[in-house]
Amino acid sequence: RVAGPCVMVLFGVTGDLAKRKLLPAIYDLGNRGLLPPGFSLVGFARRDWQDQDFAQLTHDAVKAHARTPFREEVWKQILEGIHFVPGEFSDDGAFDALAMALAEIDETRGTGGNYAFYLSVPPKFFPVVVEQLKRTGLADAPPGSWRRVVIEKPFGHDLQSAHALNEITTSAFPESSIFRIDHYLGKETVQNIMALRFANNLYEPIWNRGYVDHVQITMAEDIGIGGRAGYYDGIGAARDVIQNHLLQLLALVAMEDPTSFDASALRREKEKVLKAVRLPSNLALYTARGQYAAGWQGGEKVVGYLQEEGIPPTSTTETYAAVKLEIANRRWAGVPFYLRTGKRLGRRVTEVAVVFQRAPHLPFSKDDTEILGQNALVVRVQPDEGITVRFGSKVPGTAMEVRDVSMDFAYGESFLESSPEAYERLLLDVMIGDPPLFPHQREVELSWKILDPIEEFWATQGQPEPYEAGSWGPESADAMMARDGRVWRRL
Ligand code: BG6
Repeated sequence: RVAGPCVMVLFGVTGDLAKRKLLPAIYDLGNRGLLPPGFSLVGFARRDWQDQDFAQLTHDAVKAHARTPFREEVWKQILEGIHFVPGEFSDDGAFDALAMALAEIDETRGTGGNYAFYLSVPPKFFPVVVEQLKRTGLADAPPGSWRRVVIEKPFGHDLQSAHALNEITTSAFPESSIFRIDHYLGKETVQNIMALRFANNLYEPIWNRGYVDHVQITMAEDIGIGGRAGYYDGIGAARDVIQNHLLQLLALVAMEDPTSFDASALRREKEKVLKAVRLPSNLALYTARGQYAAGWQGGEKVVGYLQEEGIPPTSTTETYAAVKLEIANRRWAGVPFYLRTGKRLGRRVTEVAVVFQRAPHLPFSKDDTEILGQNALVVRVQPDEGITVRFGSKVPGTAMEVRDVSMDFAYGESFLESSPEAYERLLLDVMIGDPPLFPHQREVELSWKILDPIEEFWATQGQPEPYEAGSWGPESADAMMARDGRVWRRL
């Protein structure tokens, strides 16, 4: 899979995402030989910079965060195509200069008018940037070329705002040219959920309410909000992670098999399942929210959320959220899907655990069966990528004793190839114009429909329950599971 010659225009080059993920991913693509000939990178920002200043920023970002080793020849290849256009988003002159710079790049580097505009900027700037791309004609692809726009979450903060944002974007670009990034879909382990389910015959027959007791989807982070107070406060864990990453994981775990992996077939199945998601009737009992308090993490004392720089001391933003969902269809009726995410938890781990029902009859001694857990299939999304199957096994010896054991698949042991970073895959797909790993607006809106009532309920509940940094979240989250006679998996 290779892309044709093109230009990537990056708005928001000085932001965290550009430095930590996007610029290093471009370099890594170059290092793997996946950048097209003539590939050019244009940075646009409100800085009084020349090309070499942007090149320096890119160089530093690559050195600090690229996955693949630094090679001078790859860097030189990227450097040849680096340009910078200074300006404010509201400055017509700056966008006219951008249009001129792009025309010149087409002349000198043979990029043929193919441009991807990556809006790595807060959503409040989307309207003005999109408007400028419209005004300058940059949004319209001349025959034989393409124009694409890449937008990062948050896609709004509720259904209504997501809809409004989409109106703005679609006023300039057709849906087929809009690439919405949910970087979880770019992760190898997440795509592997589809391979696991649909490339095999082993799991699918038991992947339903007849055998599955419940599903737990967890994204735990040890980090706090870092320097992201401005973005995070007022958004919180559910909008930041559940609305997008965790509901996408749920969709991949629960959907029916798509007829193919093309975008429309895949999105159709995800949409069907998102449409079938049901909230618990009692949100007070089956949702939980928490806010980290001071504590210890990795041997260091860390401050609580309310003491973080830039956070108002009365903030009610949650940094932990858990919800119980059900899926009203023949495959899943009555099977709870428990989703949880939080910052400043015990350690960083994302996983999907499909927990199976107990065997209907256990012909072993009572002592043994009491310590036997339920069978589980765990997709370890990160950091220790792989899959674990847990099952009961005979303990070696002369008696018939049984214990839980696990069978592991680890990427590092089975494959020589290293996994590309999520953004590498997604940036390449943008350049190729391959949309299956990008959520459609309908998925975005369906996800908000699920979350909006929960957020509305939480807005009436005052302060989230505090939990100690480094712990596994608020007690109410454990109580929610206990109510169903279940426990969260120990991570
Ligand atoms: C982002 C969230 O989408 O995902 C962040 O906005 C979070 O709050 C990040 O830290 C986690 O991504 P990953 O790939 O490290 O799991």
